[in-house]
Amino acid sequence: MALQFHSNSSVLIAIFHLLLVLLHCLQAKAANGYCDLFKGSWVLDQSYPLYNPSVCPFIEHEFACQRNGRPDQIYTKYKWQPQGCNLARFDGKDFLKRMRGKSIMFVGDTLSRNQWQSLTCLLHSALPNANYKVSRLEDVSTFEFTDYGVKVMLDRNVYLVDVVREQMGRVLKLDSIEGGKLWKGIDMLIFNTWHWWNRRGPSQPWDYIQDGEGIKKDMDRMLAFEKALRTWAAWVDSNINPSKTTVYFQGISPSHYNGSLWNEPKAKSCAGQKIPLAGSTYPGGLPEALFKLKEVLSTMRKPVTLLDITNLSLLRKDGHPSHYGLGGPSGMDCSHWCLSGVPDTWNEILYNLILS
Ligand SMILES: *[C@@H]1O[C@H](CO)[C@@H](O)[C@H](O)[C@H]1NC(C)=O
Ligand SMILES: *[C@@H]1O[C@H](CO)[C@@H](O)[C@H](O)[C@H]1NC(C)=O
Repeated sequence: MALQFHSNSSVLIAIFHLLLVLLHCLQAKAANGYCDLFKGSWVLDQSYPLYNPSVCPFIEHEFACQRNGRPDQIYTKYKWQPQGCNLARFDGKDFLKRMRGKSIMFVGDTLSRNQWQSLTCLLHSALPNANYKVSRLEDVSTFEFTDYGVKVMLDRNVYLVDVVREQMGRVLKLDSIEGGKLWKGIDMLIFNTWHWWNRRGPSQPWDYIQDGEGIKKDMDRMLAFEKALRTWAAWVDSNINPSKTTVYFQGISPSHYNGSLWNEPKAKSCAGQKIPLAGSTYPGGLPEALFKLKEVLSTMRKPVTLLDITNLSLLRKDGHPSHYGLGGPSGMDCSHWCLSGVPDTWNEILYNLILS
């Protein structure tokens, strides 16, 4: 009887071990391509940030929160932890080797500028002695690592479609995308547009909006955004050769002006926020613009990878400049991101996508 009991339990132990091995295999499989890099949570990691912003010589005033007097720094020490796999740490030297001789261009508004600047700081801090050259030609800023022949460029183009000066005034043309001539021949394109679609009043850079043949004073902004995206999608479908060019879309970078959306109804902005939301879920939900974007991307013939940073950035109510940004102490910027900070993670994920 005792013997039988013994052999039963060894069978159980053997089964248990088999299950462990199976589980391990499943996890390894998840890490090798089945893992969603955009699902996870933020964890404290004292080895972050990935660079010290004070040694990034070209960091701009609007993102230089510490130089502008932001006293807390815990927000720079969070690492994005995907569920079921790990991100490879950003390796600037490896990045430049892989991209040798190639050009990378961010196209969009200041959120593109935020990510562009983060990437140049990440690369420069990894190779502080490598030669580089910064230049600007009209709307295109170029940061070139001359030893590697790698160009990291920014094309400031807030709507992707064109704003044209005509006799009647400035016309935002939802069907016209002449700006695309600057994107031809680039090896990696990372697009973004959203924040400017809601601008009204003096900061709105157009007087009329053209949709097909009709010219109007205004229209539903979400619909205008969607039509512009469709124009952009058609441009990509007919101009991009996927064997030469990889195309990404940056996703919708979220703002934090309303604490009700993160269960802190007294907060009227991101001011004084020092830590991210715990867990993986933002109580306020995802912005509608993201659903429009995903819908348009799903209709495209050419491959475009969504750098789906919305969900993870929503959790970072602590990552914005607030009083330590462009507007100074009397300003309140809860749209852009401090550097070092959240856009470094966007680039770390981009690096992981390049690796896979
Ligand atoms: C903040 O969000 C809540 C919940 O969605 C909403 O009811 C409220 O109108 C918002 N406040 C502002 C100022 O937008
Ligand atoms: C974000 O992603 C997580 C999974 O990681 C999900 O549970 C959550 O509902 C998503 N949406 C929001 C708004 O947080």
